[in-house]
Amino acid sequence: MKTLILAGGKGTRLWPLSRELMPKQFIRIFDDESLFQKTVKRALLFSKPEEVFIVTNREYKFRVSDDLDELGVSVPEENILLEPVGKNTLPAIYWGIKRVEEEFGKSRVAVLPSDHLIEANEHYREAFERAEKLAGKHLVTFGIIPTRPHTGYGYIKPGKKLEGGFTVEEFKEKPDLETAKRYIEENYLWNSGMFMFDTELFTEEVRRHAPEVYEAFERAESIEEAYELVPDLSVDYGVMEKTDKAAVVLLRANWNDLGSFDAIYEVMEKDGNGNALRVDGRRGEYITVDSRGNLIMTERLTATVGVEDLIIIDTDDALLVARKGESQKVKEVYRKLVERG
Ligand code: GDD
Ligand code: MG
Repeated sequence: MKTLILAGGKGTRLWPLSRELMPKQFIRIFDDESLFQKTVKRALLFSKPEEVFIVTNREYKFRVSDDLDELGVSVPEENILLEPVGKNTLPAIYWGIKRVEEEFGKSRVAVLPSDHLIEANEHYREAFERAEKLAGKHLVTFGIIPTRPHTGYGYIKPGKKLEGGFTVEEFKEKPDLETAKRYIEENYLWNSGMFMFDTELFTEEVRRHAPEVYEAFERAESIEEAYELVPDLSVDYGVMEKTDKAAVVLLRANWNDLGSFDAIYEVMEKDGNGNALRVDGRRGEYITVDSRGNLIMTERLTATVGVEDLIIIDTDDALLVARKGESQKVKEVYRKLVERG
């Protein structure tokens, strides 16, 4: 099996931890390993280094190569695809799949986002093996049993039973809250964001459902030109919502999208008062007095007294203070910063 890692997103909800030049997938949030490095390790469960392809933005070229060097993994340079501009996941996957096919012929490709935390347990491996078998006739998604009506995910309604999975009766990307609540009651699954595609079937389905993407790559004489022509489109809206060839394999593994500081708080270890604390840099240290349920990441001596449920992210040149439960809105800060120029 070949693997395609998507590592070109910005992760604007994690400002100021993530920055234009240091997006979420390259930050060391929990330990010495970035989420991208953890993803590479998962890729190597099923693929040899020369079977791993990475699609990222030009600006992250050195982040990718430094992270790979640090792991001691030698992915061939031709497998690292550098986009001139981010046009969301469908162009990235389309280009990656095309390159895999040029190199290896018709193949099965696991598509992995690099902004997740996943425990690659027995179940994970088994789900990928089942998906690989289904991929000849289906575009395979991995379904997670949802815990709340999150509006940032795709939702999947499983249909008829297949060997190792189910057909997909409906795929709906990022529904509104009311719809998400209904989906939870009706036992829909979350789309994990990982896929298993056969190169030929995927290309065929892109041609059918997102011809603008197919044609941009067919017509262009260079990657620059292709990226000028191609629309900004995610694989979820562009293909998965439209195809009638989708299947879903249930994935019972600890999975967290880490999309916001609230999600990060959930998975971090807490002290006796429910504070999740992380120190960065030589001068970092914290003291908490009568403080509960806070997430504090700091690079200097930081103290809190009598505060609850706050998110305090202190970096070299920017400080974020937010209320827990509201951290989805951090992307608004980023938007304002961009507007301001
Ligand atoms: N190369 C490249 N170029 N990668 C990209 C680009 C791009 O333009 N845009 C995003 N990515 C990468 C991100 O770095 C991430 O690893 C992955 O593609 C998914 O993109 P997100 O932007 O994080 O998608 P999402 O989280 O909103 O939604 C997707 O994931 C959810 C689960 O976390 C969808 O597939 C949802 O259906 C799914 O539930
Ligand atoms: Mg994401």
